[in-house]
Amino acid sequence: MQVLVLGAGYVGMATGVTLAYLGHDVVLVDIKPERVAAIAAAQSPILEPGMDAMLGEVRASGRLSATTEAGPAVAAADVVFIAVNTPPDASGDANMTFVQAAAVSLGQHLDPTHPVVIVNKSTVPIGSANLVKSWVEDGLHSTHPGTPANGTFTVASNPEFLREGQALSDSLYPSRIVLGTDVPWAMERLQALYAPLIAQSFPAPASVPRPAGFLAPVPVAATDRVSAELVKYASNAFLATKISFANEIAAICERVGADVTQVMAAVGQDPRIGSQFLDAGVGWGGSCFGKDLSALMHTAREYGLEPVLAAAAVEVNRRQRRWLVQRLQATLKTLKGRRVAVLGLTFKPGTDDLRDSPAETVLADLTRLGARVVAHDPVATEAAAQAWSYPVEYVNHVDDAIAGSEAVLLVTAWPEYAALDWVRAHESMERSLVLDGRNLWSPDVLRPLGIEYYSVGR
Ligand SMILES: NC(=O)c1ccc[n+]([C@@H]2O[C@H](COP(=O)([O-])OP(=O)(O)OC[C@H]3O[C@@H](n4cnc5c(N)ncnc54)[C@H](O)[C@@H]3O)[C@@H](O)[C@H]2O)c1
Repeated sequence: MQVLVLGAGYVGMATGVTLAYLGHDVVLVDIKPERVAAIAAAQSPILEPGMDAMLGEVRASGRLSATTEAGPAVAAADVVFIAVNTPPDASGDANMTFVQAAAVSLGQHLDPTHPVVIVNKSTVPIGSANLVKSWVEDGLHSTHPGTPANGTFTVASNPEFLREGQALSDSLYPSRIVLGTDVPWAMERLQALYAPLIAQSFPAPASVPRPAGFLAPVPVAATDRVSAELVKYASNAFLATKISFANEIAAICERVGADVTQVMAAVGQDPRIGSQFLDAGVGWGGSCFGKDLSALMHTAREYGLEPVLAAAAVEVNRRQRRWLVQRLQATLKTLKGRRVAVLGLTFKPGTDDLRDSPAETVLADLTRLGARVVAHDPVATEAAAQAWSYPVEYVNHVDDAIAGSEAVLLVTAWPEYAALDWVRAHESMERSLVLDGRNLWSPDVLRPLGIEYYSVGR
């Protein structure tokens, strides 16, 4: 099929590269010329494992191109994905400006004789499919006055569940595919588009192997549009709540002297609960959880319904992000002038994404309290220096952050931090205080060296 993907971010790149790999002809569109130039040069504009290799392959096969001008490709497309950003606005709801611009311009370039399925892949507030339909109609009527929308296009919802850091693996081997439309020909076309993925009939790319035991067919949830939109919010709200729940239990563990890793490991062995997303730490972040919870709560409140549970998950997370600095204050008392090393800036390991990262809260608090902060991240120091305006020294080697510091604070559990040489680190520190915000290190290793070590809920 001819596929157009609007937005070459995490979701657009994963969607476009995956569909091209499955044999479709894909045009990726982004308003940022530098992203388009990178893709044309077979270099991914975002950091994702396997992305450069797969992008190189689909570029070489001629099945994927990139442009800043959607126009000519719209008329030929069988399916168009809207995968643009929907950042939170001041009220907490999703900002739909980018979706609106994309939808209007799609409408302007539609060919009324060639029906197309327009798919919302962006995470959009409940009911947005109708909004998108009206925006596409506005565009269509500006170029083809009087053309009926029905028969020219239909809007479907196909929410995305990929995780940054394993975006391609999640796209190629998804837990489920949610297709939201009441229009039979649109449902048929989307099922056909995804058929090789559902049947897993493609050879696994060398750079993104099929997980052991992955079973075909991939489950397809065929729903109405509103339900599909809500699946996305409900899933993210549940996952965020799971982490917040583990953090609440961690706070109780600290009071009563229990070990949250032992507690949650045993709790998670119950198949009704499951072992994932039960890690205590300094909280969740990233571009999705906070934004999606806030949009879900906003929707509930539009109907006079107080989303008590979602609000509590957010509140526990807000409290948890303060754990490191509060623990530091409890130990060092005053922070003014003290050199503090912060390890990890991205919201989780394996991504270069800094959006809504707990590290930003930590840097903001530390610098406000007068600490001299030296920060390290394996991939994101330059981006952090540009994105954030705190008076922080960013270093490119973790040893340079640790040497001379009075405390080491771990925010993001990058695997390279797990392998730190603590004997050397201990010798280079001004004071051997380590606050482990991700329960990455073992007290049994650090404490015998004479390091004062604290972790979350242990
Ligand atoms: N990142 C994730 O893990 C993830 C997972 C699931 C769903 N989502 C949702 O998917 C959507 C996209 O997220 P993302 O992380 O890929 O965003 P992103 O910011 O990485 O990428 C969005 C891209 O869209 C481009 N864009 C904006 N307006 C455009 C237009 N009119 N035409 C063409 N391109 C345009 C931007 O320049 C940007 O490159 C959001 O709604 C997000 O909530 C994200």
